[in-house]
Amino acid sequence: MSEASSRSITAHLTLRGFEEGDREVVLDLWVAAWREAMPAIDFERRREWFRGHLVQLDRLDYVMRCALGARERVVGFIALSPKRRHLEQIVVDHAEWGKGVGDALITEAKLLSPRGLWLDVNEGNPRAIAFYEKHGFRCLRRDRNPNSGRPIFRYAWGDDQ
Ligand SMILES: CC(C)(COP(=O)(O)OP(=O)(O)OC[C@H]1O[C@@H](n2cnc3c(N)ncnc32)[C@H](O)[C@@H]1OP(=O)(O)O)[C@@H](O)C(=O)NCCC(=O)NCCS
Repeated sequence: MSEASSRSITAHLTLRGFEEGDREVVLDLWVAAWREAMPAIDFERRREWFRGHLVQLDRLDYVMRCALGARERVVGFIALSPKRRHLEQIVVDHAEWGKGVGDALITEAKLLSPRGLWLDVNEGNPRAIAFYEKHGFRCLRRDRNPNSGRPIFRYAWGDDQ
């Protein structure tokens, strides 16, 4: 899942591949950011599910990139498969929302999968929906999450739009 190269975006923002030492920070970030985005769901209870999910993604062909802020703190990450053109995760530390970290991560996702990307987003996540639309993703259809049954939208950017 790791990608070696590191790329400076601004003086205080760098992108690099996931490293083993990032795992617990990434888990904390995922729980906290999702709790903020969808408070009705108990993401702390899903922490161990997400730990296993990361292992699964690693076994498949997903790559992960981390955004590092001041003092090299992990402030966001993406997980995607260029082969499947699937953006599986994009998460930014809540304290950093609206400051360009999400922009840098979605730009990186497009660079890694230049022909296109698709993703599923919960209907009850208006911030993420606004974010994707701002970045040129278009809604293809409504659907339901096969695990939770919650309503979702399928969004895509690029050739798959
Ligand atoms: C989705 C996420 C990565 C976006 O990063 P971000 O830094 O918050 O993104 P931005 O601030 O650039 O963009 C969010 C947009 O939604 C808008 N917005 C904020 N709250 C909103 C709301 N309640 N309803 C609709 N739009 C909203 C913002 O104004 C902003 O648009 P603008 O830049 O045109 O003003 C981040 O919020 C996050 O980590 N969320 C939790 C995890 C998640 O939902 N991931 C995506 C799952 S599919």
